[in-house]
Amino acid sequence: MALDSKTDAPRGAGPAGPRHVAIIMDGNGRWAQMRGRPRLLGHHAGAKRVREIVEACPDYGVKYLTIFAFSTENWKRTQSEVAGLMSLFRRYIQREAQDLYRRGVRVRFIGDRIRLDHKLVTLMDDLELLTSGNDRVHLTIALNYGGRDEVTRAAKRLAYEIEMGRLSHKDVDAETLARFLDTHVLPDPDLVIRTSGEARISNFLLWQSAYAEYEFIDTLWPDFSASEFGRIVQNYAARDRRYGGVKAPA
Ligand code: FPP
Repeated sequence: MALDSKTDAPRGAGPAGPRHVAIIMDGNGRWAQMRGRPRLLGHHAGAKRVREIVEACPDYGVKYLTIFAFSTENWKRTQSEVAGLMSLFRRYIQREAQDLYRRGVRVRFIGDRIRLDHKLVTLMDDLELLTSGNDRVHLTIALNYGGRDEVTRAAKRLAYEIEMGRLSHKDVDAETLARFLDTHVLPDPDLVIRTSGEARISNFLLWQSAYAEYEFIDTLWPDFSASEFGRIVQNYAARDRRYGGVKAPA
């Protein structure tokens, strides 16, 4: 879907569309296995879809896209799959950095960097810095990310501030805690999509998705397309979000 040539406004979901979409990209392994190929091939195919969906965001008025690339639980996979994924992340950043920069994408990473290898962390830091002046699309990649881990790390930092006397326990409310989350500069997601037919959230953006709409679809991530993304985003605009309140009178 293209931009309106007169107004340059997105022709997608309109003002009621989601500003922030988060995606659990699932099904790479099954996609490869169905073809009798190694799981890693599915991850490589999945990486190609990332580019297509990032490119589609402005067309649908999606300003923020957050994708779940590697969870704190994914370390339990075989050593060769983990190593293959880490190498894919390094190569993805090296290959895509200039293009993301030129297309106005601001890239951020969330998750605990402590367990990631030094080379990968340097590439992540460099890409964040390179794209820090961009504002067309905000792409956040969750890498070694877990919702409980994020809230635990935030609580630890908050406790430290109290211990240092820089904050009083009386000041602690949801807003204060949220300032210590990895996502503190991002709006909460409006819509969370999970591919591959699994209807669970797997520790993704637990705090931030309290009022998000969820869409669980059967498509395996490497088969997910910009047009399916567009359909889901447009359907979202028809939903009635009440945030615990009541429907506004017509
Ligand atoms: C889940 O599929 C997918 C992952 C654990 C990795 C997601 C990674 C990518 C899409 C690669 C590219 C990402 C970036 C940012 C370059 P699965 O392996 O659990 O699939 P299965 O459930 O079919 O086994």
